[in-house]
Amino acid sequence: AMIGKGGHRHFMAKEIFEQPQVIGDTLSAMFNPTARTITLPDLPFDPATVPRITMIACGTASLAGMVGKYWLERHAGIPVDWDLASEFRYREPVMTEGGLAVFISQSGETADTLAALRYCKQQGQYCLGIVNAPESTIAREAHAVLPTLAGPEIGVASTKAFTTQLVVLACLTIALGKARGALDHETEARLSGALTEVPSRAAEVLNHDERIRAIAEETFVPARDVLYLGRGTSYPLALEGALKLKEISYIHAEGYAAGEMKHGPIALIDEHVPVVVIAPSDDLFEKTASNVQEVVARGGKAVVFADDAGVGRLKDLALETIALPAVDPFVAPILYAIPVQLLAYHTAVAKGTDVDQPRNLAKAVTVE
Ligand code: G6P
Repeated sequence: AMIGKGGHRHFMAKEIFEQPQVIGDTLSAMFNPTARTITLPDLPFDPATVPRITMIACGTASLAGMVGKYWLERHAGIPVDWDLASEFRYREPVMTEGGLAVFISQSGETADTLAALRYCKQQGQYCLGIVNAPESTIAREAHAVLPTLAGPEIGVASTKAFTTQLVVLACLTIALGKARGALDHETEARLSGALTEVPSRAAEVLNHDERIRAIAEETFVPARDVLYLGRGTSYPLALEGALKLKEISYIHAEGYAAGEMKHGPIALIDEHVPVVVIAPSDDLFEKTASNVQEVVARGGKAVVFADDAGVGRLKDLALETIALPAVDPFVAPILYAIPVQLLAYHTAVAKGTDVDQPRNLAKAVTVE
């Protein structure tokens, strides 16, 4: 069927605005409302005993996987390796017997991810796909699939596929944490509860669209370089923010772990460099706040995404702040993905680039 833009100027905008809906759809498939918890379909491995997880993907999907690594290690107590499929497939990696390999892919057709899956099968791994295209090769060849119910994604820059991948990984984390006895009942209820709030919180985040457009036009359109900083699960989001901006606006951007700033990127900071800081109120907030101070001390233009408390703490330092809803830190990466997408989108629109079909990029990289 023909897919329209639903009144939006670009598919990317339509897909960003669909997120409350598709996040809810993806969650509903795994949330059991009577037990008020997450139940996964039967999987061909024992979640209680799986010794190790290897998370593999390309591009934006790989950054969802990096968030998944942080979550699974922290809340399910499982060691997780993370790799880019193009590196993994040629490295002849040593794998733990009976391990679980997770392949994340919107299209299910990315050549490197598929090759990595075939390698893992030969290595005796249980192969789980987190896939948006149910008829795809990766969905077919994996031993089991947890679907993202994002619907067709047309914009080359991935948006709703990313946040629904995060939802599936969050559910996997809760289910494995429970199966392994790593999550007590109270924590499990807290994490599940936080997840069920995400669709309505995501809708609130979208209300910042106009404000983010204004910031994009004023501060990002003139920029030559942009830095994105975050710690913990906000680090993969910093990488995703930089990737999104590069892909569609062609502005050079780098994502960095905030704690690494002193090991290089701080040398770039001056009054011409906007620095996007992703700073939800979690146990690393104060450390990130010190990094904001360091950015500002060097004349950098800090643009901070935080909640009300965080904005209160940083508004006198930062050039711009956006106050997002206060949420459990567990689900922050899902919500903070949205302003990061909007910032890239509005910067690209204002620059007049082809947002849905950026130069040199393909929606699915099916040949190496
Ligand atoms: C391309 C797309 C990205 C996507 C990546 C991985 O680079 O432009 O948006 O994240 O491939 O694609 P996949 O379909 O495997 O998620």
